[in-house]
This record gives sequence, structure tokens and C-alpha cells, in this order.
Amino acid sequence: MRHHTPILALALTALLTVSPTAAAELPGWAFPQAAPGGGARPAPDDGSAKHVPDSTVALTKKQIAAHGPIIPDWHPEDHPALPDIVAKGREPQVFACGYCHLPTGGGRPENASLAGLTPAYIRQQVLAFKNGDRPGSDPKRGPQTSMIAVAKAVTDAELTEAAAYFSSVKPATYIKVVEADTVPKTYVAGGILAKSPGGGTEPIGNRIIEVPDELERFELRDSRTPYVAYVPPGSLKRGADLVMTGGGGKTLQCAICHGPELRGLADIPRLAGRSPSYLMRQLYDLKNGARTGGNSILMKATVVNLAEEDMVAIVAYLASREP
Ligand code: HEC
Ligand code: HEC
Repeated sequence: MRHHTPILALALTALLTVSPTAAAELPGWAFPQAAPGGGARPAPDDGSAKHVPDSTVALTKKQIAAHGPIIPDWHPEDHPALPDIVAKGREPQVFACGYCHLPTGGGRPENASLAGLTPAYIRQQVLAFKNGDRPGSDPKRGPQTSMIAVAKAVTDAELTEAAAYFSSVKPATYIKVVEADTVPKTYVAGGILAKSPGGGTEPIGNRIIEVPDELERFELRDSRTPYVAYVPPGSLKRGADLVMTGGGGKTLQCAICHGPELRGLADIPRLAGRSPSYLMRQLYDLKNGARTGGNSILMKATVVNLAEEDMVAIVAYLASREP
């Protein structure tokens, strides 16, 4: 037994060095990282109470940043009553789920929409984060490491409560998908791309540029913040072909497992109407071995032959579908 150990160790080292893919090759738009000295430039806080459209709630930026005693909840009429783990967490160990994923579970481009996923799937994925099966292709990406920290600290009872809650919320989307040759110039603001304050445009290339219409509403954590996802011309048709037919054997028809409307089937997750940045990270991570565990083995044949361009087209199309 003992003399096999060096061989095993060698094999393990080889595995570890091939995956995950080096950060430099990542599609930067899906894994945004602020340049040194760059990043978020929130407007100076004048201490005044803030408002968002169609809400009577008033909150200061200090209250929002403190995420306590409860998380910002601008539209309580959009969701059922919040359980404590979603609204307050158990700080300092467990950040409230609803601070990042929003009270509606609608999520934001740097995290994930959870609304309407099944309790079993939510539980299985939190365990995958906890067990090191979802380090992500950029293990240093802040939002990813925060989710992993939550997964390690949450108790089984808390997870059961959170999973039941998010599962009970009806999914919605505020993302408008638009094909465009030219897109606004962007910078990295709080883990997402935002339109450069200086304006300007640039060619889209093989990217998706998902930006909030108004960065202020994103920063205030308004769950109805509208986004535009600019996608390359022709990508919706190309994505539809890959998703609906498998693109002549390149991949599998997604509906077989994800349901006829791509709204999920049993414990296989919904794809329709989700953030294209989130979906891209998942396809990329699944292909590159940075997301394993759960039932991810069932995705192997789907992603193995996909080029980055195919993934861009697929997630553009999926984001454009009704959730
Ligand atoms: C600090 C922010 C943050 C908090 C708090 C947080 N999450 Fe997350 N969560 C994330 C991010 C970021 C991702 C997406 C990681 C990626 O891009 O792959 C994520 C992804 C997930 C996913 C995967 C969704 C899918 O479709 O596979 C689940 C499930 C999840 N979170 C559940 C929870 C639960 C339950 C809680 C509360 C106990 C929670 N999260 C708290 C940031 C957070
Ligand atoms: C053979 C069944 C099967 C097929 C076909 C399939 N999937 Fe999946 N897919 C799954 C399963 C199971 C999961 C959950 C993986 C896990 O447990 O980690 C999943 C997860 C995903 C995720 C991650 C979602 C999330 O919430 O994080 C994406 C994105 C995805 N699939 C895209 C696709 C696309 C696009 C296609 C078609 C081109 C497709 N899948 C075809 C079974 C399948």
C-alpha cells in the first residue's frame, strides 16, 4: 500500500495543475476583476435617505451597507415573509442570504438567482460549495469566496429554512437581452460590469456586456434593478439552435434534462431568464473542472465540445427566455 503513495501524489499534482484554467484566459466579462486601483467608485454618501422607484421604503446608504438589523427590502410585496436566515443571517458567521441573492432570490450578475429552484438542488449546491466542489475558475473572485464562507458556516436547519424559502418564490427577470455590434465602455464596480462614467462605446467582440441601467439602483440593492445584456449579433439564433437541437451533435438538447421550457425539471435547475454572466461562469466552470459534485457529471457530455463562442450564444439565448 505504502509504496503507491508517491504515484498517487504525482497523479494528484498533475490533476491540480491542469484545472482550474489560469485566470488570464478567463472570459473577463463573466469573471470581472477590478484593475489595481480601479473598481467601484460609489457616489459620496451625503447621509440622506434614499428611494427607489415604486417603493415607499427609505434607507440611508449606511443602513444598506450595515445589512442590519435586516437586509434592504424595497419591495416586500414581491415575496413571501422572510425567514431570519434570509433576512438577518447569523452574523458574523453567516451573512444573510438575502443580502447577496436579494429578498426575492432574483440575485445579481455576480451571484445567482435562486427563486424557484428546488430545495434539494439548493441544498446540494450549498454542500458543493462547502465541500470544495465549486471553487470556480477564478478561486480568488470575491463573491465566490464569500459564498463558500457562508456554505461552511450555515447549519443544516438554517439551510433547510433558506432552501424552502427561495424555492417558494416565483422567478422573475429584469434583464433585457439586446443584440449589438457596439456596447458602452465598462469598468468593474462591485463584482459586476457598469457603464463607464466617461461614456464612450467599443466593439462587443465575443463577449456579453451585462450592465444595470442605473448603477445607483444596483448599489442600493433594489431587487427590480433593470439590466441590459448586450450580446453579439446573430448569437440569439445560434444559441437557440444549440439549445433546441444540440447543434448537429455538438451538444445535447437542453430540454431533455432542464424541462421543455427550460424552467427546470425535478431537481435539475431552471436556465430560462437567468443572468448570462452567471450561466457563463457555470458552463465555463463545468467544462474546466472548477465545478464538480452534485449531479454535475450529467453535464459533462453537454459542455465537452463547446467553444467559448458557443457558450456565449447559448447563455445569450437562455437569458432571453421567459423565466
Ligand atoms: C456574500 C454573498 C452571498 C451570500 C450571503 C450568500 N450567497 Fe449564495 N451565492 C453567492 C455567489 C457569488 C454565488 C455564485 C457563485 C458562482 O458564480 O458560481 C452563489 C450561489 C449560490 C447557489 C448556487 C445556485 C445554483 O443555481 O447553482 C446557491 C444554491 C446559493 N448561493 C445559496 C445560498 C444560501 C442558501 C445562502 C444563505 C445561507 C447564500 N447563498 C448566501 C453569494 C452569496
Ligand atoms: C443529461 C442531462 C442534462 C442535459 C442534456 C443538460 N443538462 Fe445542464 N444540468 C444538468 C444537471 C443534472 C445540472 C445540475 C448539475 C449539478 O448538480 O451541479 C445541470 C446544470 C446546468 C447549469 C448550471 C445551472 C445552475 O443553476 O447553476 C447550466 C448553466 C446548464 N446545466 C446548462 C445546460 C445547457 C445550456 C444544456 C444544453 C446545451 C444542458 N445544460 C443540458 C443536466 C443536464
